[in-house]
Amino acid sequence: MIIRPRRLRSTPTIREMVRETTLSVKDFICPIFVKHGYLKRDPIFSMPGQYQFSVDTIVEEAEELWGLGIPSVILFGLPDKKDATGSSSWAEGGIVQAAIAAIKERLPEMVVITDVCLCEYTDHGHCGVIKNNKVDNDATLVLLARQAVSHARAGADFVAPSDMMDGRVAVIRKALDRENFQDTGILSYAVKYASAFYGPFREAADSAPQFGDRASYQMDPANALEALKEAELDMEEGADIIMVKPAMPYLDIITKVREISLVPLAAYNVSGEYSMVKAAELHGWIDGKRVMMEMLTSIKRAGADLILSYFAKDAARALNF
Ligand code: PBG
Repeated sequence: MIIRPRRLRSTPTIREMVRETTLSVKDFICPIFVKHGYLKRDPIFSMPGQYQFSVDTIVEEAEELWGLGIPSVILFGLPDKKDATGSSSWAEGGIVQAAIAAIKERLPEMVVITDVCLCEYTDHGHCGVIKNNKVDNDATLVLLARQAVSHARAGADFVAPSDMMDGRVAVIRKALDRENFQDTGILSYAVKYASAFYGPFREAADSAPQFGDRASYQMDPANALEALKEAELDMEEGADIIMVKPAMPYLDIITKVREISLVPLAAYNVSGEYSMVKAAELHGWIDGKRVMMEMLTSIKRAGADLILSYFAKDAARALNF
């Protein structure tokens, strides 16, 4: 007798019935960039189809995403001035703070997440403050906590620290609780690799380090055990959701972290993953839509419960027809 697995692949209906992984628009968190000004929708050249919005237009964008069924956005800010400590990141009228308030006013149900980091706000482009030519861990924690509290005050539902300093989840949790933001959650970039796949983002967010690289704080791409350690630490420190980043080159890590994680797991399908597909599609070398859906399905199959992706809008359209 021949065992015939092909029987279960013979018609679209059967394939649908036995499909093990299905994407939903509810899986997506859409990253968006916000800057000062009015009526801005400036294209990001390294990320075709992505824009830097001003506060007025980002609300329109959020409405469109919400209309497609996407439940959540994560905000990245481009400040009008940078300094050594990234002080504009916790300013009352800061750009992210203004965007949170505007989106929440129009769409109170939408889940607004904010990236918490200093790299977009420091003149040196590192994710922490510099002391003796090094990124100083503990001096940075205070500033991250300040930034997180100011996002919570503006109405963020979750803050998402992406800096990879040790101990930041605990420090941020404590600061939020102290200021009576016990309902503001933490989505921690728990497992974040020092990746070249962030290249296009650094143009989009104007956040490239002006000297050196991020290898002394972000993880070595060769390490997997260390991912489990980072994930466990962040869960112990009180992260509500943890994240692995990037996604596609780290599917094994997503699977391993999923096995030990007692909280929802997000994966960040980063800028380089997006731009590679868009570039090849623009050349006519691949079917961009099919590659996108295959990538996103693979990230979910690997174990991600939530997916941060620049493809969120395209994927939602494909899923809604
Ligand atoms: C900020 C931050 C980065 C990304 C998200 N938050 C860049 C970096 O660490 O250099 C990358 C996102 C992407 O590439 O899409 N620290």
